[in-house]
Amino acid sequence: VNRLDSKKRTGSRRPRHLRLVFLVAPLVLLLAACSGSGPQSALEPQGPVARTINHLWLLVFSIAAGVFILVEAALIYALIRYRARKGDDREPVQVHGNPKLEIILTIIPALILASIGYPVVKGIFDVRAIASGPDVLQVHVIGHQWWWEFQYVDYVGQDGRALTTANELYIPEDTEVNLTMTSADVIHSFWVPTLAGKRDLVPGRISNITLAADDPTPPDQPHPGQCAEFCGLAHADMRFKVHVRTQADFDAWIAAQLEPATIPTQGAAAAGYETFSNTCVACHGATVAGPDGVTRLGPERQIEIGDVTFAAAYAPDLTHFGSRFTFAGSTFDNTEEHVAQWIENPSALKPMHPELNDVANGRILGMPDLGLSSDQIDSLVTLLEGWK
Ligand code: CUA
Repeated sequence: VNRLDSKKRTGSRRPRHLRLVFLVAPLVLLLAACSGSGPQSALEPQGPVARTINHLWLLVFSIAAGVFILVEAALIYALIRYRARKGDDREPVQVHGNPKLEIILTIIPALILASIGYPVVKGIFDVRAIASGPDVLQVHVIGHQWWWEFQYVDYVGQDGRALTTANELYIPEDTEVNLTMTSADVIHSFWVPTLAGKRDLVPGRISNITLAADDPTPPDQPHPGQCAEFCGLAHADMRFKVHVRTQADFDAWIAAQLEPATIPTQGAAAAGYETFSNTCVACHGATVAGPDGVTRLGPERQIEIGDVTFAAAYAPDLTHFGSRFTFAGSTFDNTEEHVAQWIENPSALKPMHPELNDVANGRILGMPDLGLSSDQIDSLVTLLEGWK
């Protein structure tokens, strides 16, 4: 006892400092969480679907926090108020059973659970409901290792195909968009935290998710999206963007994207087209217009699931490559410099497995180094960036 007492006296200063550290450190961590969220935050919903999910989270969190504070407060009060005091060795009153208290303590949690359960179950059904009707925009989504294919099935071009784009989804503001999704290879997951929850894309199956956004996005600030299911080497680089436009701007975008790309007849772009039509179209698709009319280039395969047919490309459609802000799973800004670096050695910029490609069977695991000369690359870049 003496040793303990003396230790307590002489050491009373340092433990107090330590105690301060133990108190302040968690506080600092807690406050760090208030430093504002990144662009991929589900806590800053920008559309009705994401808002429904956020409201549920807030409701459950508030009730759980309330219960936590009440229980901890009662516990701490009891610990201090009824602690054993020196010289007081009375035995506390022993009780067994208290029906009134037990009924109250059963009813209160039941009411709390019901107040959480009803809105949560209703919210799950609301969020899972497949949007339908004449005002709903229908888009097919195909997940690929490691990029996204978007097809606007209501908008068919001169080649008779649905408008197809890659990694950048355009939607009109204040409009429900029903995404009908599947995968061409392994399981992926579609996730735009600011607009909706996650939904897996499973090969051989169809899944749906509803997107809706309140306001148009500035051109350089689209909603960031991300594959949320580990799908191999470049999973982290399987990103995409959702651009929201006014109805008029969206209609103009659709009209422009439905136009075929022009086959250039002179200059670097014409040389680029030579390379393009001999090399790139082994995997990439494009709809082009020349003196002979409109031609569809590149392979595709039909994925039939129930009564839905997905026309899956092998690689991103390049018809309007120059109009995109990003490329390669929305990983890089679309600049001439980046595209040239990419064509020169794609695997140096993004981890992929092009050596495993089996083009004949539509199994593509990344763009290979095609061994093009720097002149060929430059003219190819001129061609692609000219296809706005
Ligand atoms: Cu696709 Cu992860």
